[in-house]
Amino acid sequence: MRPPEPTERLSYRPPKPEDADALHIVWGDPEVMRYLPSDPSPSVPETAERVERHVTRFAETGYGLCAVVEREEGRVVGTCGLFPVEWFGPEVEVAYHLARDVWNRGYATEAAGAWVAAAFDQLELERVVALAYPANKASIRVMEKIGMRFDRDVAKYGERLVQYAIERRDVRGHSVAAPDPTAFRSGLLPVEHFDRRFSADNLEFWVPVLVREARIDSDTDVLDVGCGTGGFARAIAAATSARVTGCEQAPHFVEFARAAAEDDAVAVTWVVGDAEALPFAASSFDRVLLSLVLHQLSEPRSAVAEAFRALRPGGLVLVRTIAPEDVPSRVPERFVPSMAAADAARMPALKTIRGWLERAGFVDVDVRRHLRNKVLELGAQEAALQAEVTCRYGFITQEEVAEGLRRMRQDASRAEGRWVDPRPTYTIVAKRPG
Ligand SMILES: C[S@@+](CC[C@H](N)C(=O)[O-])C[C@H]1O[C@@H](n2cnc3c(N)ncnc32)[C@H](O)[C@@H]1O
Repeated sequence: MRPPEPTERLSYRPPKPEDADALHIVWGDPEVMRYLPSDPSPSVPETAERVERHVTRFAETGYGLCAVVEREEGRVVGTCGLFPVEWFGPEVEVAYHLARDVWNRGYATEAAGAWVAAAFDQLELERVVALAYPANKASIRVMEKIGMRFDRDVAKYGERLVQYAIERRDVRGHSVAAPDPTAFRSGLLPVEHFDRRFSADNLEFWVPVLVREARIDSDTDVLDVGCGTGGFARAIAAATSARVTGCEQAPHFVEFARAAAEDDAVAVTWVVGDAEALPFAASSFDRVLLSLVLHQLSEPRSAVAEAFRALRPGGLVLVRTIAPEDVPSRVPERFVPSMAAADAARMPALKTIRGWLERAGFVDVDVRRHLRNKVLELGAQEAALQAEVTCRYGFITQEEVAEGLRRMRQDASRAEGRWVDPRPTYTIVAKRPG
């Protein structure tokens, strides 16, 4: 098989003999090898022999561990790949080993997710498994993050292991192929439920990020497109005294925003309007925010072009978005595979958004990843999942919801009081030249 296409931060290729030095950092490290059936490799020449076996195996069978390469540095940081369990199958497993200095960055999830997707796309497998020692919590967490579920205890490779599995139908693009993005628009949600996204802790984290990244000050005209119930628009106006306009398609959200702004005595202009045909003259604003809105549009490219038109020369657009590959590890998607599949499929890839921006004429595109590390509360997450299923994700069965809630409670109780979702989110800022 071909290795998967590069993902956000990593690329994959068959191993080469010259990878021995880099892979010795992985296979020679007792901490990395602690939960693997083989002992740490004692020397680079011995690692070179192991690499040679993988090179040969991949060349002969088309299966096996491939090198995982950090795209930015070009450095080999580990291996990941697919092969028949115990080399005779019939089940196919995904395995991943990464250097200790790149742990806790989500690389294993990124790589294993890409290989599982390739297994379904290229090999047309119905199911992929992964094996771990029961004590290897980090590896089990990766399996869960890529949508695998506990399958059974097994005796394999001469060890007692836990087996996790994922079915083809649970994976992005298979259960819900290219969903209609407008079918998930937020206007379907009850207004009070939607407004909870602007909780005090969210505003405290995001408003400084938006103000800093979009370089907003008291002298800027800001347009917040898809402002929802206006939490960001109000908080940005209050924090910076900028002149802010909130534009939103759902009239009941705008009505709610207007009433809330009057209560706060914050001056924001509210307009009901469509992101794809903005009701503003050309060159009206210094900043346009497109925060978590492009994925809800049928023509996101038009919204980017409209942002360009509405900006004055030299103005900045800020897109806030979630990368599709980060979706399966979020709460609640982590526990509900068909929700994860739908959400990953409807989020545009970062490079796609970059392409829209560049084609619209924007320059100086700057992409940044932010780790929200949101502390979650179980009751609120349970209620949010139920509301989403009722209003927007009617295709999720009651059995899947019940299983998702069970796993969610288990995860929350394992966290012992501090249940945190990293929720990686990107800002992409670009300039209208001039
Ligand atoms: C996920 S919410 C994001 C809200 C807020 N900007 C944020 O970052 O939290 C998407 C918002 O875009 C709005 N929206 C969807 N389609 C739109 C369109 N065609 N024009 C304007 N707003 C739209 C939705 O009603 C919703 O308020």
